[in-house]
Formats: sequence, structure tokens, C-alpha cells
Amino acid sequence: MKVLLLGSGGREHALAWKIAQSAKVEKLFIAPGNAGTQNVGENVDIKADDFEALKNFVVENGVDMVIVGPEDPLVKGVYDDFKNDERTKNVPVIGPSKAGAVLEGSKDFAKQFMKRHNIPTAKYETFDGTTVEEGLKFLETLKAPYVLKADGLCAGKGVLILPTLEEAKKEFKEMLGGMFGNASARVVIEEFLSGIECSVFALTDGKNYKILPEAKDYKRIGEHDTGLNTGGMGSVSPVPFATREWMQKVEDRIIRPTVEGLAEENIEYKGFIFFGLINVEGEPMVIEYNCRMGDPETETVMLRLKSDIVDLFEGVAEGNLDKRDIEFDERAAVCVMLVSGGYPQTYAKGYEITGLDKIEDSVVFHAGTKMQNGKVVTNGGRVIAVSSYGKDKSEALQNSFTQAQKIEFTDKYFRRDVGQDL
Ligand code: AMP
Ligand code: GLY
Repeated sequence: MKVLLLGSGGREHALAWKIAQSAKVEKLFIAPGNAGTQNVGENVDIKADDFEALKNFVVENGVDMVIVGPEDPLVKGVYDDFKNDERTKNVPVIGPSKAGAVLEGSKDFAKQFMKRHNIPTAKYETFDGTTVEEGLKFLETLKAPYVLKADGLCAGKGVLILPTLEEAKKEFKEMLGGMFGNASARVVIEEFLSGIECSVFALTDGKNYKILPEAKDYKRIGEHDTGLNTGGMGSVSPVPFATREWMQKVEDRIIRPTVEGLAEENIEYKGFIFFGLINVEGEPMVIEYNCRMGDPETETVMLRLKSDIVDLFEGVAEGNLDKRDIEFDERAAVCVMLVSGGYPQTYAKGYEITGLDKIEDSVVFHAGTKMQNGKVVTNGGRVIAVSSYGKDKSEALQNSFTQAQKIEFTDKYFRRDVGQDL
């Protein structure tokens, strides 16, 4: 069959790599893709949120299935757009409907949903411009540090954690005053939870679900979790505290109630659910939902998924995911992200990347690259993900580290401690 994958980051290269291994796929297109995805499929120069152009491409090229990588097209309603068009209504889109993507698109909706379905999460209240005073009073009832969340999508920047009540009050007022534009017209204030985070992923057809390998990502720029937050500096899978017993709690208290809750509320959801969890004294609680896979978690999760991912996607499309098998690779996987010097603040682009041909035993996923005059050049903050297997996480890290040193570009930087704190 012919498959079209939407997106252009490291997550999409990892998905494309896995999709291309499927015996069921005769042709893989990636829109718009990057310099790496063109090695496993054909890049198409269409933006992931240009629905008209995407639908025309699907019709003209006889595409049988569309898989959505990033949240943006999902939150904008790509699922519904394809479904409501006579020409594309029978082409399955793997990803939730616009109503389902609200789990990620609105923090307030996600919190209300969890409350309705008794899913464990931090205590919270939501405020807007008409309830500033109430918000300030609510802050006084909480203990430091204080967690403020812009309701809408802010490219991962909409959460502030403030050490003092004074700062929390000030930032709360600024958020409502338009710090993140319309996205912070409503602000969720919630109780701070203390624990280690873990990303758990499920694929659902709206009724049945399969749980994928869990992973942990490393968000800070500096080793030992110091410095500014980034889009993710690496990931590791499996996560040692996610034991069989812990994952059973996750399934019983979080995953199943979420899938059932969506069905009860008639929210169409045929795609990935990303559960951003935190382990609070052995008990899993939800920090956030995302309506897609994680980045850079996908760059390790795909290494550990043994099954044909397109067979699973067919199960999603046909509503018989329960009839499909899912198998995991028992080895550990670690992804180390090579980033541009200066990231996550200012950095230069357009540096030539060399050494990609010297990589052995690791898988290289391109995150921010492009082709320029026949050369691969840097084109973003996060540039290249180097993912490796190992008998354990230390060996996997060592493998990624060894290969990462062979790849060169000006001002390359990466963390050497991914997975070592667990
Ligand atoms: P979110 O966008 O909701 O995932 O929040 C971004 C990050 O802020 C999370 O990955 C956590 O590290 C942190 N965070 C969010 N909510 C809380 C909370 N209630 N307690 C502690 N940390 C939090
Ligand atoms: N790695 C976190 C995310 O994809 O949102």
C-alpha cells in the first residue's frame, strides 16, 4: 500500500524508518520530511497543515493511509478534514479527530476530562481574565513551588514553575495579560508533584489499545538536568521504575479509563495517546496528555517495537487492533540528540554535517537537517538523533556516544548522561 506520513522532525524520521520496514508498504511519502526521511521514502514538498494540498496529493497518488506525526495538524483538524471530503473520506488518517486532539490542545479540557473519569492527576483550578482575584487566592492555598499552565498550545513553553508565591502571582497576572497570546487567556494553576517522569504511549482504535514501550526523555540542555528546557536532548527505553506492577497500575488507572472515557464521550480517537506521567511514591499520575508520539521518545520506542507498525495502523483503521500482535525487543535503547551550539536560545543554521556515512550499529535520525547543494546541513536547534541498542542502558549510551563523536558539524553539542540517573 501507499502511505503518507506528515511531519519533518526526528520523530517523523523514526516513524518513517519503521514504516519503511513493513512488508505491506510499497511506497512511503513524507510531507514535508527532512534530509533523512528521503533515505527511507520520498519527500513531498507540502506543509503538514496544508490540508487542501495534502488531500489533492492523496487523491492524485492513490495514497491508502495517512499517518500524522506532529500535534499541529491534529489540533487543526486534519482527521475531520479528510473525513468530511468525499474524495478522501475512505482514506484512514492515523491520529485523533479535532475533538480528541483537544486532550493536548487544552490543558483545562484535559484536566476536566481526568476529573470526570477519576484519572489520577494534580489538584487544579482554571482561571481567566474575569477570575484573577480567585486565582490569586487559590495560589495562596498551595505550597511552593507553583505550577502555572497556559491553557492552549505554546510549543512546549506554556508551563511555568515558580519558586515563590510572589513570583507565581506576578507571572499568573502576566499570563492572563497575554504573555502567550490567546493561549494563556485561560491559565491552569495546579499542585506541584514531586517524582520522576516517564512517557507511556498507547495506540488505540477507539475501543482497543496496545501499549508501546515506555521511555524517559531528557529535557534540560545541561548534563545532570541543569540549564534551560529544550525540545528534548535524548531518551531511554525501558525505564527501570516502570516495572510490570507499575505498568499494570498505569493501564488500570490511566490508559483504560482514558480510552473508555473518550468512547463514552463520543470523541473519535484513532491514533497515539501520549501519557506524560510522574511517579509519585510508586503511584503513577498524569502530568499531561499529548495526541501524538513523543520526540525524542519515538527515536528509542521505534527501536524497541519489533512488530510491523503498519499492521498495527491497519488494526487502528479497521477497528480490530485486538486481533494484532505487538512484540518488543528486550534490549535497551538510548537516543542522544546532537544539537546546534547556542540551542535552545540563538544558534546558527546551514553548517555542513559530515561523518554520517561512518555510523555503524546505531541508527541516525535526522531532526533539523536539509539538503543544500548536495550536502546535508544543519537546519534547526536539534539536528541529529543517534539511537542505539545495548544489552543495558549503559551499553546503549556508550554505543550512541561512540557514534555521535563521528558526526561533525560546527558547534555540535550533546549530553553524555542520558539514562544514567535511573
Ligand atoms: P507539560 O507541558 O504539562 O508537560 O509540563 C511541562 C513540564 O513541567 C512537565 O514535563 C513537568 O516536568 C513539569 N510539570 C508540569 N506539571 C507539573 C506538576 N503538576 N508538578 C510538577 N511538575 C510539573
Ligand atoms: N518529549 C516530550 C514531547 O514530545 O512532548
